[in-house]
Amino acid sequence: MPGSSEELVRDYLEKTERSRALHERFRRVMPRGQTRTIAHFDPYPVVLDDGNGAVVRDVDGREYVDVLNNYTSLVHGHRHPEILDAVRRALESGTVFPAPHLSQLELADLLRERYPAAEQVRFTNSGSEATLLALRIARAATGRRVVVAFEGGYHGSVPELADGGPDLVRAAYNDLRGVESVLGPSAAAVVVEPFLGNGGVVPALPGFLQRVRARAAEVGALFVLDEVQSLRNSFGGVHGKLDLSPDLVLVGKIVGGGFPVGGVLGRAELLGYTDPLHPRALSHSGTFNGNVVTASAGVVSLRMLDAGAIEQLNGRAATLADEIESGAARAGVQAVVSRAGSILQVHLASARPTVAASPGSVERQGLAALHLALLLEGVYAAPRGMLNLSTAMTDDHLARVASGYEHAFVRVRDALPEAVAEGAR
Ligand SMILES: Cc1ncc(COP(=O)(O)O)c(C=O)c1O
Repeated sequence: MPGSSEELVRDYLEKTERSRALHERFRRVMPRGQTRTIAHFDPYPVVLDDGNGAVVRDVDGREYVDVLNNYTSLVHGHRHPEILDAVRRALESGTVFPAPHLSQLELADLLRERYPAAEQVRFTNSGSEATLLALRIARAATGRRVVVAFEGGYHGSVPELADGGPDLVRAAYNDLRGVESVLGPSAAAVVVEPFLGNGGVVPALPGFLQRVRARAAEVGALFVLDEVQSLRNSFGGVHGKLDLSPDLVLVGKIVGGGFPVGGVLGRAELLGYTDPLHPRALSHSGTFNGNVVTASAGVVSLRMLDAGAIEQLNGRAATLADEIESGAARAGVQAVVSRAGSILQVHLASARPTVAASPGSVERQGLAALHLALLLEGVYAAPRGMLNLSTAMTDDHLARVASGYEHAFVRVRDALPEAVAEGAR
């Protein structure tokens, strides 16, 4: 059937033959051939074997403009020469030591200079581990158990937050009354993102974060701001921009320059729980915490992401959001784009959500079709509709992305006419 979603899949199968064959082998050794839930999509993901600046290539030799950037972490794209140089230099001396190393000092100093909340720093290997540590500190410091988080919030593969638990309470994002009703004197902490990232790029409404912060202070709970994604959007973090004075800040992604990283920044008194001589010390170790490669790459990557670079990324992202929306309108597809700094999300809906986006089945089908169509157009975005910019992108890359979206919308319209006729929700 011409223009159907079957045709889209057939086209994809034909053009990604080597990935298809490899997928069979991956599936023999890894569940669904994957090691990251988020990276799976049907019928199978392409196998990428090369990344350079803003472009990635798959094993069939197809080229894509990368607007996923390893889920926002590669803010300078792939293989930035200055980051590679720093890593090569680091490798000459070793990769990791069970001892302090000057690269850790340099990165920690930089974080302290830049982020007002960072009186002290503790490194981990991922944002998930940073969340785990922050919850332990909050419970040790307050002697309380309850943690308040948000529907659609994401803080990594942390059992309690990912799967729920007896001490976890959730409120709707941007619903201040809802938060106030659950954030009381039994709470050790409230954990919140400046915008829902995985929850559909839903920015906080003006005043929301400030009010949650004030409520946490009122009830003696820690205000833990998860800036793992948002750090790329403002020079001093969102907490610096809004003067939020969080107790603890979770960081990750861009802080490692493309290598595994996480960290907790915050008040010295709280980070002090990880001091082995603290009377109620928490034992916190990690074989690769603060490893030389990550720390060296992180320093260079952060230095290059200065205020001017961030402003440019955010401005270009705003323009691209408008172009994607107008491309959809020209193609006759109902779509809106939500944005937080240089991170965007396409919604096949009539309005941007203010709570966690929960696409219905028609929208999910539409987003899956859009994703496949984008791959066929040479644009590598997230299956769920998220995209973000890197400093490696030129005007030409951005133009390719905008026109790729417009063509992909046309294919989606032809493949799923009901998504256009009825609206996606
Ligand atoms: C807001 C937020 N917090 C925490 C995490 C977890 O970080 P990691 O994947 O490094 O464990 C992520 C990852 O996407 C995230 O987006």
